Amino acid sequence: MVSDNETQDRIVNLELELLLQAIQQQYDYDFREYSRAHVKRRVLHYLNANGIPHISELQHRLLTDEQCFRKLLKELSINVTEMFRNPSFYKTIREKVVGLLKTYPFLKIWHAGCATGEEVYSFAILLKEEGLYDRTQIYATDFNGDVIKKAKTGSFSIRNIRDYTSNYQQSGGKESFSDYYHATDNRVLFDKSLSKNIVFAEHNLVSDGVFSEVNMVISRNVLIYFNRELQNRVLNLMDRSLVTGGFLGLGSKETIMFSDIAAKYKAVDSKERIFKKIHV
Ligand SMILES: C[S@@+](CC[C@H](N)C(=O)[O-])C[C@H]1O[C@@H](n2cnc3c(N)ncnc32)[C@H](O)[C@@H]1O
Repeated sequence: MVSDNETQDRIVNLELELLLQAIQQQYDYDFREYSRAHVKRRVLHYLNANGIPHISELQHRLLTDEQCFRKLLKELSINVTEMFRNPSFYKTIREKVVGLLKTYPFLKIWHAGCATGEEVYSFAILLKEEGLYDRTQIYATDFNGDVIKKAKTGSFSIRNIRDYTSNYQQSGGKESFSDYYHATDNRVLFDKSLSKNIVFAEHNLVSDGVFSEVNMVISRNVLIYFNRELQNRVLNLMDRSLVTGGFLGLGSKETIMFSDIAAKYKAVDSKERIFKKIHV
């Protein structure tokens, strides 16, 4: 016999499927291949927080009110980030990748899923200290236009600066971290010299195209929200963007091992999941 709970769960799953279809058709954002458990959790949390009784009611509101969709998009795109997050990733880049990047006269680096930009400014600092910044073009992209707007300002809350300073030092930072920003009441504003070679843009990894001839792709804490098929497709997009000899930095949570690009790459560092493309 089917219990009431099972019936209820089946209805929720069906409503969720219809909601994702509606979002795709109305707003061209496709969450159908995101981890379903993640999407369900976030949507139910959104209903709860906004006193909306059913997913079908949310669907109606979304279709008639774009602001409602924008709020849900914020809920679905987890924008948590920090400067020099997982400092050992940056340390490993300094120790194992920078030497090879120095052999190129000009570099293109793509941060895919950059959120509010803390990772990109951290990388810009690293490149500056390693004498690479002036020959590098950085693309920093995210599918959420609101976070891209924030990233462009280079302004962050002062609340986290003590932790960021500690991360910077652990990452092998060579200067005094405070040299890179100007503090006002409750914000820090990063030096414009760090953003002059950065192009911030909206880009959806699910539906948008490649960046051509990139020497390094950094995309940490993004693929974890996708199901395996979508991870595989997005890894192929990154692969098509990378030159042979280029690097893919995924951070400790993600891997290429299950994907069909795996054979073209060798691990530069297995813990930090940094890979080098060795075949076309
Ligand atoms: C947890 S943040 C990671 C930020 C940064 N990379 C880090 O590790 O600190 C994940 C980011 O991926 C973005 N994202 C999710 N799905 C995306 C997609 N389909 N295309 C582009 N960005 C996406 C989210 O908007 C969010 O800003």
